[in-house]
This record gives sequence, C-alpha cells and structure tokens, in this order.
Amino acid sequence: MRRDEFSRRLMRETVLTANDLIYPVFVHELEGRASVGSMPGIERVSVDELLRIAEQASELRVPALALFPVTAPEAKSLDAAAAWDDDGLVQRAVRALKQRFPELGVITDVALDPYTSHGQDGLVDANGYVVNDETVEALVKQALSHARAGADVVAPSDMMDGRIGEIRNALERDGHVHTRILGYSAKYASSFYGPFRDAVGSAGALGKGNKYTYQMDPANSDEALREVGLDLDEGADMVMVKPGLPYLDIVRRVKETFGAPTFVYQVSGEYAMLKAAAMNGWLDERACALEALTSIKRAGADGVLTYFALDAARWLREAG
Ligand code: PBG
Repeated sequence: MRRDEFSRRLMRETVLTANDLIYPVFVHELEGRASVGSMPGIERVSVDELLRIAEQASELRVPALALFPVTAPEAKSLDAAAAWDDDGLVQRAVRALKQRFPELGVITDVALDPYTSHGQDGLVDANGYVVNDETVEALVKQALSHARAGADVVAPSDMMDGRIGEIRNALERDGHVHTRILGYSAKYASSFYGPFRDAVGSAGALGKGNKYTYQMDPANSDEALREVGLDLDEGADMVMVKPGLPYLDIVRRVKETFGAPTFVYQVSGEYAMLKAAAMNGWLDERACALEALTSIKRAGADGVLTYFALDAARWLREAG
C-alpha cells in the first residue's frame, strides 16, 4: 500500500487544509511593521497593515485571525483598565476588520497580561499573588468590550476559575448571544511562550516572574480533563490545549473524553525552534511545519492556531 503515491493517498487518514488554520497576529499602536527578533517572519503590525494581512488570509481561505495587542508601557497599570477601553487598540482593530472583512472570523484574547504593569494575566494582591475573583470581574469587562466591538470569538487565556461561566452570563445579559467562547482550557505554564512575551513586550514587565500559580503544571494530564470539563459545563463552545507538539497526548485525551470542538495552539517557541533550524539549513521548513500541523490534527485537533498559517495555506495550495 505504501509503494505508490495513489495508494498512499487512498489510505491517508488525516488531511490538513486551510480550513484548519487560525493565524495569530500582533497589533501595535505604531505605524507600519516591526519585526520580532525571536520569531523570524513574524511582525508587529499597525491596524492598516492588519487589514492587508486579513486580505491575504481571506484570499487563502484561512477562516480566522487571533489578535494580540502590543500595549505601550504607559498604558499598563495595576488595575489593567486599558483592557476594557472601547477605544483601545484591540477594539479598534476588531471594528476595522469586521467592517472590511465581515466573513473573516475574529478571535480576541481575554487576559490582562498586555495591560498589567507586572505582566501577569490577572490582578495581584500585596504579595504579587494573582487573585481569582477580582480578576474574573475584570475579564468580564474586557470580554464585553471585545463583543461590543464585534469580536466573533472571545478566548479567555488567563486560566482563572469560573471565568467562562461569568463571561457567558454577561454576554447573554447584554444580548451578545452569538459571541462564541474559546476557552484556553488546558493551558500549561510553558517555557515555550518565551518568544510571544518578547513579541508583545510583556517579558520585561514579567521579569523573573512566572505563572505557576494559575497555569497548569506540564507534568499533569488528568487535571487537563478537569479543566476542560469545567469550561464546557460553564458554556465554552470550543476548548484549547496549549502548547501543541509536546502536549499531543493531552489533545487526544481531551478529544476522546469530550468530543468537543478542540483547538491547539502551536506556540511561539514551537515556531521559533522550527524556524531557527530551517534558517540554519538543518530542517526543511515546509516539510517539518506541515508534518507538525498534520500531527496536531491527527492527535484530535479540529484546528490549530499557528504562526505558519499563511505560509501553510500557500504551501497546501501549491501542492494542490
Ligand atoms: C497571554 C498569552 C500567552 C500566549 C497566548 N496568550 C502567553 C502567556 O501566557 O504568557 C502564548 C502564545 C505563544 O507563545 O505563542 N495570556
């Protein structure tokens, strides 16, 4: 069966397409584009440039973009109030996208790390401990502000307890009955997020801090099922496992246990590794990126947030 291309194609179980891809984009307040040192090929872009990227994504049939703001240091504070400013960067970017490309899905990140002066995803007490319930109140305000701007999907990536239920109630109460919730349900305290924190500029704020008190221990697997179960009970439409490649056992368990729409974030560090090796001529970028994405889908993912999304869609188109 493996001898010929025709029979390999006939028995192929998993076929990656552009429909499986979500493109994360970093948006900044500045004009034009700025490169991200640890993520070659990825840039921070203005809202105008974001529209160009959206045009490419639409043309390539990539279903959705996920937005991540780069917040100026002076807009960061202890209470993260810029997060629910209806005229904030994310809110303006969402409005611009939905106006120009109404068909393209827009996913926003609900977490306070771009807006807190300490770089944590939540509000902290006097000891620097991230406090759950106060943070959830702030996240609800942030999610509502994104929904008002027109976000199709709000994606809480903060790992507080009970936030999905509170956000769902608030969305319903305010008439946002079509806004979907993608829970970053099994989000691990991973060191593979390093380049992302460079890209959004939260690395400096976070300093030597870590997120161990709320993100999951990489050593745990059953806990991921409890987290996913809670988010689905509270009203999540989709769940996510993050990072991707080192956590495919979790993806498989989540998909088999719940059968819910399951997404995977192939994170910045995974992208950086592949990119660095490819730039050294040590790996074939296209082949390895497509293999990794196919493997994520084979493990049970319905879709992948990946910095390779546009390139992968192009490669798949070229391959026919
Ligand atoms: C922040 C957030 C992070 C990522 C997505 N949303 C970083 C973190 O939790 O520190 C990481 C994505 C990536 O590494 O590509 N809430």
